[in-house]
Amino acid sequence: MRGVLLLTSIALWAPQIWAQSAPAPSASAVIHADRPGATIDRHIYGQFAEHLGRGIYEGVWVGEHSSIPNTRGFRNDVVAALRDLHVPVVRWPGGCFADEYHWRDGIGPRAKRRVTLNTNWGGVPETNEFGTHEFLDFAELIGADAYINGNLGTGSAAEMAEWLQYMTSDRATSLTAERARNGHPGPWKIAYFAVGNEAWGCGGNMTPSHYVDLFRQSATFLKAPEGARPAIIASGGHDDDTSWTEALSSQVPAREIGAISFHYYTIPGDTWKNKGPATGFGEDQWISTFAHTLKMEDFITRNSAVLDRYDPAKKISFAVDEWGTWYDPGAGLEPGFLYQQNTLRDALVAAINLNIFHHHADRVRLAAIAQMVNVLQAMILTKGRQMLLTPTYYTFRMFRAFQDATLLPTYLQTPQYSLDTVSVPAVSISAARTSGGAIIVALVNLDPNQAIALSATIPGANVQRVSGEMLSAPTMDSHNTFEDPYAVYATPFTAASVSGGELSLTLPAKSVVVLTLQ
Ligand code: AHR
Repeated sequence: MRGVLLLTSIALWAPQIWAQSAPAPSASAVIHADRPGATIDRHIYGQFAEHLGRGIYEGVWVGEHSSIPNTRGFRNDVVAALRDLHVPVVRWPGGCFADEYHWRDGIGPRAKRRVTLNTNWGGVPETNEFGTHEFLDFAELIGADAYINGNLGTGSAAEMAEWLQYMTSDRATSLTAERARNGHPGPWKIAYFAVGNEAWGCGGNMTPSHYVDLFRQSATFLKAPEGARPAIIASGGHDDDTSWTEALSSQVPAREIGAISFHYYTIPGDTWKNKGPATGFGEDQWISTFAHTLKMEDFITRNSAVLDRYDPAKKISFAVDEWGTWYDPGAGLEPGFLYQQNTLRDALVAAINLNIFHHHADRVRLAAIAQMVNVLQAMILTKGRQMLLTPTYYTFRMFRAFQDATLLPTYLQTPQYSLDTVSVPAVSISAARTSGGAIIVALVNLDPNQAIALSATIPGANVQRVSGEMLSAPTMDSHNTFEDPYAVYATPFTAASVSGGELSLTLPAKSVVVLTLQ
């Protein structure tokens, strides 16, 4: 008994002895203002909005006659929040939904539109109230480019070709007359058009070579007026499968593909059946989430290496047009609606991925987080007339200045953050120079227990001042609720200084910090 007591007291005291004697962890970085790199395409800050759960209906569209304040049917609170985020592009209508979507169901007088079945997401009736005109009006309202995902699965090359003509043609045809009757005489500008989605799965369970043929066939007929043809996106691979990038880039001439799409979702658990909860998780799930999300770096590197072999001029973009966290559905929620809470953990996941995209700015020139409102890693959650901004929203807002900035290479020495057998680099960094000349630096500290001191030299710049913003919160799963919508939000960061051109700061535990240096 005595022996047991002694062991217990040693175990209790040991961490305190360590805490007193161990130095605070520190990191150092070099931010190369003297070696500017590629432009960080603003389109990597894109968002995905699918007909799924309450993503479109209630999340974006409430209809003109709703008591929820709206502009032409789009809820004003959501539109204002998205405008403030400078959303550069929205991908619509799916996802899996896209490969069963027939665009003609969503045009013409709303009361006369066909009610179809959303077979992918909850088997609910789809009123088609939100169709092509509504989407393109919404994109314009929030100041975003349009990314249309065509239907290859149950559609045809002809259906996609006519849809593109309907939207973009400037000639007097029956299609453009119909567009005018439906309220839009002039053509729209479509930035991106994808031929199918996840052709390896819900888009038709195809092999890469079968898809390559269908892609080339369909893309041949995707015609638009001179200078107005969207970048054509091919449905690519996911996770660690590079065979789609290999097949597409080796068999399709670079001039025929604008981008190859890629999807990767972060799940903390080891299987899709056991993904883990969105809130109420332990530190094991916290570190596992980051270990999984950091795989994005390797996936992009491997796909880029394939692309570099066939497209060394980097004409084809790599489009990470579905990414983000995916957790188990909460108790009592419709599992097919993919609604999930969004915590400080999600904000850090977003920051890590954006840093990774920045580092690959030469190839990753389009991305879309899944999804915009009320679905998966959402920016915004709504409940009837209430709306809240999630921690992920704040990360995107803090990172806005990176849109179209010039990447500055960084070299980082970071301590590891470890728990049991899992270990990840504690700090993540990226930097860029804005068109106004400021240097912006994004930092993440994944360690939920310890602050990290960081110093950085900045060759090629003579910085004098620093200001910043920070996102952190008391617990790993801190989140905003409709009762307490500002539990997690960005605050000014004052713990950074510049002396002799060198930057020093203390990165709080579990935080995202964005600095502006002048
Ligand atoms: O974002 C939810 C779904 O995830 C999309 O519809 C599909 O493309 C992916 O599998």
